[in-house]
Amino acid sequence: MLVLGLMGSPRREGNTDLLLSAFLEGAQEEGVRVLKIYVAEKRITPCQGCRFCEKNGFCRIEDDDMDEIYHLLRRADLVAVATPIFFYGPTAQLKALIDRSQALWARRYILKLQDPKSKVRKGFLLAVGATRGKELFTGTSVTARYFLNAIGASFEGVSGFRQIESLGDISHHPSALSEAKRRGKGLVEMLSKRKRVLFLCRENAYRSQIAEAFLQFYAGESFDVQSAGDQPVREINPFAIEVMAKKGIDLAFRRPKGLGEIESKGRPFDLIVLMGCETSCPAIPAARVENWELEDPAGKSIEFIYKTTDAIEKMVKELIQQEGLKEVH
Ligand SMILES: Cc1cc2nc3c(=O)[nH]c(=O)nc-3n(C[C@H](O)[C@H](O)[C@H](O)COP(=O)(O)O)c2cc1C
Repeated sequence: MLVLGLMGSPRREGNTDLLLSAFLEGAQEEGVRVLKIYVAEKRITPCQGCRFCEKNGFCRIEDDDMDEIYHLLRRADLVAVATPIFFYGPTAQLKALIDRSQALWARRYILKLQDPKSKVRKGFLLAVGATRGKELFTGTSVTARYFLNAIGASFEGVSGFRQIESLGDISHHPSALSEAKRRGKGLVEMLSKRKRVLFLCRENAYRSQIAEAFLQFYAGESFDVQSAGDQPVREINPFAIEVMAKKGIDLAFRRPKGLGEIESKGRPFDLIVLMGCETSCPAIPAARVENWELEDPAGKSIEFIYKTTDAIEKMVKELIQQEGLKEVH
């Protein structure tokens, strides 16, 4: 499970940074991986409103840091958006990132593709401002709500703190840091009750990628799912994206992961599914290990790829039913 913090202030170790650290510390107490992005230090070109993404599903601007951010947004289970209030809104640096999520909005609402994690991903807003204004967080809350919706996350609320101005003010607030920590921990607790499943294959290019996506798509509320490969390649098989898109499932921005990237801290896996590792798959603690016999679709015909995809979808549905969690049709 990944918790992503978007630190929107240009000031490192300022109020927003400390508040977000407290939130992530709370999440970390639950044994999950946390990652803080210093948005102001990333190269993010503002959206040009060219509408290229509405036709193509990705942004025309390709030479900045957004590609990595799209990937992380898709990988995250919980996204914390943190910003100081600048003129009653988020900072310009954060707003540039928000506007570039229009590509994800277009994939969802124009191309009608569903990110498999979008049913369970959660989002939260942390904000600080210097004044006491009644409407201090109103505009930013609406922006955060629509941003989170575009990236496929439910808006779980806002912790906003007034009269926070100079460096370090947040540390003297009677409850801000403890409240942020409590919210981080609480939101992760809700997600960490799910059964942990890991799909492993050789390249993490096709079989384990689509098994992961199907299980997230059909039963992400019951399973915390990951996939990896013992010899990961650079990119997932483009057919995987194409074939899954025909089913309305969006695999864009997903990447193959090696065994070292498995988020295995915390509880052991409830289930590891081996799908043809070359070496015997590694000693990762799991309550149960299954072996799904599936031939590697690399280099095979499109018919073979469709057949493999349908076979994996069927096996995933059977797995959900075996676990007695729900009927899947
Ligand atoms: C350009 C700019 C605009 C600001 N606008 C507002 C504002 O509209 N309302 C407000 O209460 N505070 C405003 N502030 C104050 C910051 O929100 C406040 O100092 C905050 O604590 C800074 O957080 P940081 O330490 O994370 O950067 C503004 C600050 C700057 C630099």
